[in-house]
Amino acid sequence: MKYDFGMVGLGVMGRNFILNVADNGYTAFGLDLNQESVTALQNEGGDIAKVNASTDAKTFVENLSVPRKIMLLVPAGRAVDMVIESLLPHLNEGDLLIDGGNSYFKDTDRREKYLTDKGFHYLGVGVSGGAKGARKGPSIMPGGSASAYKYIEPIFQAVAANAKDGKPCVAYLGPRSAGNYVKMVHNGIEYGMMQLTGEIYDLLRKSADFTNDELHDIFAKWNNGRLKSFLVEITSEIFKQDDDKGDGRLIDKILDKAKQKGTGKWTSQNAMDIGIPVPTIDIAVSMREISALKSERVQADNVYDRPSVLPIDKAELVEHAEKALYFSFICAYAQGLHQLASASKEYEYDLDIATIAQIWRAGCIIRAELLEDITTAFNENEELTNLLMAPAFVDKIHGTVASVRRLVSYAVQSGIPVPGLSNSMTYFDAYTASELPLNLIQAQRDHFGSHTYERNDMEGIFHTEWGE
Ligand code: 6PG
Repeated sequence: MKYDFGMVGLGVMGRNFILNVADNGYTAFGLDLNQESVTALQNEGGDIAKVNASTDAKTFVENLSVPRKIMLLVPAGRAVDMVIESLLPHLNEGDLLIDGGNSYFKDTDRREKYLTDKGFHYLGVGVSGGAKGARKGPSIMPGGSASAYKYIEPIFQAVAANAKDGKPCVAYLGPRSAGNYVKMVHNGIEYGMMQLTGEIYDLLRKSADFTNDELHDIFAKWNNGRLKSFLVEITSEIFKQDDDKGDGRLIDKILDKAKQKGTGKWTSQNAMDIGIPVPTIDIAVSMREISALKSERVQADNVYDRPSVLPIDKAELVEHAEKALYFSFICAYAQGLHQLASASKEYEYDLDIATIAQIWRAGCIIRAELLEDITTAFNENEELTNLLMAPAFVDKIHGTVASVRRLVSYAVQSGIPVPGLSNSMTYFDAYTASELPLNLIQAQRDHFGSHTYERNDMEGIFHTEWGE
């Protein structure tokens, strides 16, 4: 008897994913160099006729039905290349390798070409939802050759999360690295939403002394409304968690230095490469970097005074905060999706933005009620360049923007840093401004470097000998 599906890497994600595959009626075989991970999976899987594993690559490959469908859930980078090389001698032409990690999209392009030239199939697939998602239903973002995807489609459809309308949160997205690119931008949006949530938390606790219980209640209430989302939900839970090593709530004991594995940074870097502004995401990356400078921050805090926090009515603050978070979540999605639309042209991915929004509706970290409306907006208008221009979103922005202005100016006057909120506000103000002062930059460029400029009253390219 041969197994339907192979998984390399039986860490938390791999083990949960393979058990999910087995729950859905497929037999699965795992590979991990660590015997403990192999034994743990065999024990958890219960019946080795359904889920089995080995530490030996040859045994692993021999136990899989042909064409083999092998997914890798190993750390992005060199480990992926090493696993591929270790498997190659045992594979047959036509076998399918699937990288399910957060691989850099250009690595996926390289690997896909390398393996396709050798006669194998290769897919770069984004998987979102953490360990629980892998076990109960992640959002899956596959890219690579459409014909290779057909081999794995039934298994992915069975294991993926289902949205409210019952549709599985997986769809073929495009050729080569399309899946990894989409997952990268998903993570960029994730960084933005996390930063924005953190700023709202900071404003609430510093300006009106909300207790953790009150914060829990506020976020829980928001999660029952239009802000309903995985990140708002877990935020409300976090405020309730007691410290298991001392008194009080755990959140107050966690060091304020955020780590990162690189996907948010790649999103920003590539957005700059292709010339698309994503300032809410950029600042979220920068804030993780500033947060890491803890000792410098502490020193600087002793050098500079901070204005005192202005008084504000608690109820008014909560109302503005809800609107500001909603507005800025929209800006984070708008920027990420704008980047995807542009990358689709740049890299010839032929992405369908509505499909992407649709498969983000459940299972993934940025799942949110808002994605129902975003899916509808892009279904109604396939040519929509920026979410801010969708009629339904114009109404949403009109109803919230005044609160963002009020909250950002309040925060600035009170010395509370809200760079995600203010970058979202400024992004909106700049994107919707028919006149910006960049005419002056063009004049300066031409003044010091003869870089030329265009005019708003006649066609052509001009240069002036300034000051003469
Ligand atoms: C997901 C997440 C996941 C990512 C973590 C941590 O969609 O399930 O995006 O893939 O690894 O969020 O990322 P950072 O360590 O960079 O915060």
